[in-house]
Amino acid sequence: MSTTVIILAAGKGTRMRSQLPKVLQPLAGQPLLGHVIHTAKKLHAKNIITIFGHGGNLVQQAFQSENIEWVEQAEQLGTGHAVQMTLPVLAKDGMSLILYGDVPLVRQQTLEQLLDVSRETGIGMITLTVDNPSGYGRIVREHGKIQAIVEHKDASDAQRQIQEINTGIYCVSNAKLHEWLPRLSNNNAQGEYYLTDIVAMAVADGLEIASIQPELAFEVEGVNDRIQLAALERDFQVQQALELMRQGVTFSDPKRFDLRGSLKVGQDVRIDINVIIEGNCELGDNVELGAGCIIKNTKIAAGTKVQPYSIFDDALVGENTQIGPFARLRPGAKLAAEVHIGNFVEVKNSSIGLGSKANHFTYLGDAEVGAGSNIGAGTITCNYDGANKHKTIIGDAAFIGSNSSLVAPVKIANGATIGAGSVITRDVAENTLAFERSVQTEKANYQRPQKTKK
Ligand code: UD1
Ligand code: CA
Repeated sequence: MSTTVIILAAGKGTRMRSQLPKVLQPLAGQPLLGHVIHTAKKLHAKNIITIFGHGGNLVQQAFQSENIEWVEQAEQLGTGHAVQMTLPVLAKDGMSLILYGDVPLVRQQTLEQLLDVSRETGIGMITLTVDNPSGYGRIVREHGKIQAIVEHKDASDAQRQIQEINTGIYCVSNAKLHEWLPRLSNNNAQGEYYLTDIVAMAVADGLEIASIQPELAFEVEGVNDRIQLAALERDFQVQQALELMRQGVTFSDPKRFDLRGSLKVGQDVRIDINVIIEGNCELGDNVELGAGCIIKNTKIAAGTKVQPYSIFDDALVGENTQIGPFARLRPGAKLAAEVHIGNFVEVKNSSIGLGSKANHFTYLGDAEVGAGSNIGAGTITCNYDGANKHKTIIGDAAFIGSNSSLVAPVKIANGATIGAGSVITRDVAENTLAFERSVQTEKANYQRPQKTKK
């Protein structure tokens, strides 16, 4: 049976106090609605219909590349009214799964379970038993069977004692939605068209309402303000860390780890505290990340050790390299195996060959460095002439003395040596020593200036 996913995302989110529509607020680097769409896609639904209202254009633009349908709810007259908006495009057969753009963490397995139980009865929902049900719709049961959902504001004192609440997530036969939704009324405490009223309609039609509870409470928690957003962010991050531990990662503290994207890992990866991983990253076997590293869209091969506070962006790192502390690899940095990149070394759009080292205070930009070369402390590739970028090419087994400036375009051939403190503007041939310095002047018995007495 085909499934449609309907996502309600029309609300304003006043309590966020933000210019950004609520469903675009990021959680783990991705908009709230993006999490829901991502999970919905994994269910192989026939189509995904998102109901938008507030901040409509912005919301649609953010998901331009996704193959989803959009339906506008210009005025927010209630959750039932929102789903009514889909009726003109909603199939007459199959089931609809109703989700929320601000309930980001519901899991695929939970939704699959809901789909399973709902297919048998024609309607099912996710409920949750909580300590403090205040504010939520209550699940009214008789002899264990769901009879109705009563909104907090419409509930009697006795009903307010009920601790089983409506999460708002349902799976309903489309034929029934076509039948029931036009019959909703707004004759209630809030003057809204409640989607919850379809439950009593289903009971009146003699249907039994299937229900499940989620394994993890945060799956059905919504975001209304930044405090809830922060709490869900933490829940999600811990969940991700647990999953990585199951895959063989050791964390110094799984609570101090942030993954904003996806991470593939080998075995025996070790991650120290406060590491942030963004975009799509990969860490090979035995990779170690020191405290405070930030790694974005980067692949690090097996055996590499990264010391604290190193930053990677769009870099490719070979096996058994040693990086940091305080190294910065910028887009296009490509390190072969066994390279050493030390403190305060910045590498941009440059390839560094097998076993080459730049251990201290260096800028390598638009450079190609061969194998086994040593780049001394304070070496700068002067790649920019104020208008254009130029390349520096350094061969194998070259030795660049400390504090040298290599003014690009320039080539230092295999085995060449550059004397410390040189400004190199011309190509240097193989096995040649080049240096550029004025002759040292000396004054014997030199008296330093003295402080004048006032
Ligand atoms: C709803 C349920 C309540 C449940 C609670 C769970 C109803 C009548 N009540 O209440 O039983 O316990 O969720 O959180 O459904 N939205 C629209 N258009 C609208 C109204 C709402 O898109 O016209 C969206 C909101 O943006 C939000 C979601 O639907 O994402 C829920 O709306 P909200 O008004 O927060 O529902 P509650 O009153 O909390
Ligand atoms: Ca000089």
